[in-house]
Amino acid sequence: MRGTRTEISGDSSVSRSIEPSQRLPLEQDGTPARSRGGSRRRLLWRGPIERLVILYMCAALGAFVLCGAGLALAQRHAALKEVVRDARATATLLSTRVVQPALPLSAPARLDADQTFDRVIRERVLGAPLTQARIVDESGLIVYASEPGVVGQREDLSAEELQTLRTGVATASRDGGSDPTDLVGGRAGRSLDVSAGLRAPSGQPLLLQTSQPFAVVWLTSRAVWLSLLPSLVLALVLLYLVKIGFTYRLTRSLNAVQEEREQLLVTALAAADRERTLIASDLHDGVVQGLAGASYTLTDTANRTRAAGQTELADSLAATARSLRQWVRELRSLIVTVTPPALHSEGLHATLTDLVATLEARRIDVDLDVQVGDGLSETGESLVYRVAQEAVRNIVRHANATQVHVVVAEEAGWLQLQITDDGRGFDPAVSARRQGSVGLPLLAALVQERGGQLQVASATDSGTTVTLRLPLVTAPRRGAQTNRAAP
Ligand SMILES: Nc1ncnc2c1ncn2[C@@H]1O[C@H](COP(=O)(O)OP(=O)(O)OP(=O)(O)O)[C@@H](O)[C@H]1O
Ligand SMILES: [Mg+2]
Repeated sequence: MRGTRTEISGDSSVSRSIEPSQRLPLEQDGTPARSRGGSRRRLLWRGPIERLVILYMCAALGAFVLCGAGLALAQRHAALKEVVRDARATATLLSTRVVQPALPLSAPARLDADQTFDRVIRERVLGAPLTQARIVDESGLIVYASEPGVVGQREDLSAEELQTLRTGVATASRDGGSDPTDLVGGRAGRSLDVSAGLRAPSGQPLLLQTSQPFAVVWLTSRAVWLSLLPSLVLALVLLYLVKIGFTYRLTRSLNAVQEEREQLLVTALAAADRERTLIASDLHDGVVQGLAGASYTLTDTANRTRAAGQTELADSLAATARSLRQWVRELRSLIVTVTPPALHSEGLHATLTDLVATLEARRIDVDLDVQVGDGLSETGESLVYRVAQEAVRNIVRHANATQVHVVVAEEAGWLQLQITDDGRGFDPAVSARRQGSVGLPLLAALVQERGGQLQVASATDSGTTVTLRLPLVTAPRRGAQTNRAAP
């Protein structure tokens, strides 16, 4: 059955969640960047944590600006309300303390004729900011007006003014109708009209109506608001600075954890290499030497047996010795495979050439193309080698391939290793469900730790392509090695 070509990651859940370009770049000596003197500061503002923090701070700044604008608007509204409230309080005071005591004892029909009363109004009520004053009775009849020609006329009293007549509580309106504290109308409006209640000596309820230019009210409230605004801005800026401080500290601790993880990874890799070297050297010095000695002894015995005329037994002994030597060869090649190569002294090209030799030994056609500059760290080199090693092992164990292409190339700040075989391939979805296979998933996790990507593209009967992408460091490490070869 031919399956569709699918791409998987060894551990897709982990690999997808991390952006490789955001990871800590590898240092020249394979150690994480924190072991370098003075690099801590440099580390603080790069990588995924820093990007998240910067994003968070930008979002917080946006939120602060929005909050600030909202609070400033609320303050502006409060300032306007305060000035209108002041105007109402002033009107109440004037009506009860100045106008009411000045009212004549007779019924107030036309108060404008009363010179004394008129003088009191002009001297003690009118003047900045009040420009007009009227007194009306409960029927709306104007009994006094500071402007000429309106006394004796009737006006319609609003519901609020009728309420004021009953309760004495002052009301205010813009141009005699709309809400004076409404910010939407801005400074538009001719006057702020305030009505306050008072009583004539006869007990008759009257209304004192005063007017002042609305522009004065608006400007006064703006001055109040502007005097409050700096403290609001200062409080918000201080709050934001404190937030930056906390975030900076948080970033530092997150970075420390990140660096620790990087260090642990390097230590784990080194420990695994040491372990494998020990096993290989034990095998080489013990089992291999013993088997090689036994094969020579058998050859010698076969020669002597042949000289004694026992040809059949000699042939059998010689065949056993040959097979023993074959096993010794297999064992040696196994030792080469498990021994960590002298990657950093020999270079990637030489070690990959040795690695693919195990494929050639199995009559698999190999095309190796390595073009590496100087941007790959030693840990990066180790990782490239490990991925190549697992891919080669998988080809030997599972692929039944006849041709393999290995390409290592650099492109736009990334190193790419691609190993393609023409073997039987597999369905990654099925393989992902299988228990016990850890080679590719473990590698994917390692690669992801190093900020890279590992992808395996395969389909049944369509071969397999393993692609590794690693970010390169910019600082040159040593002389470039650029080779092209077909071993
Ligand atoms: N080149 C390949 N050709 C065909 N099948 C492959 C190839 N590479 C991997 N596979 C399939 O994918 C599976 C998972 O591979 P993986 O390397 O993760 O585990 P494994 O090789 O089975 O065991 P190990 O944990 O020892 O590596 C394999 O069992 C095999 O079925
Ligand atoms: Mg494997």
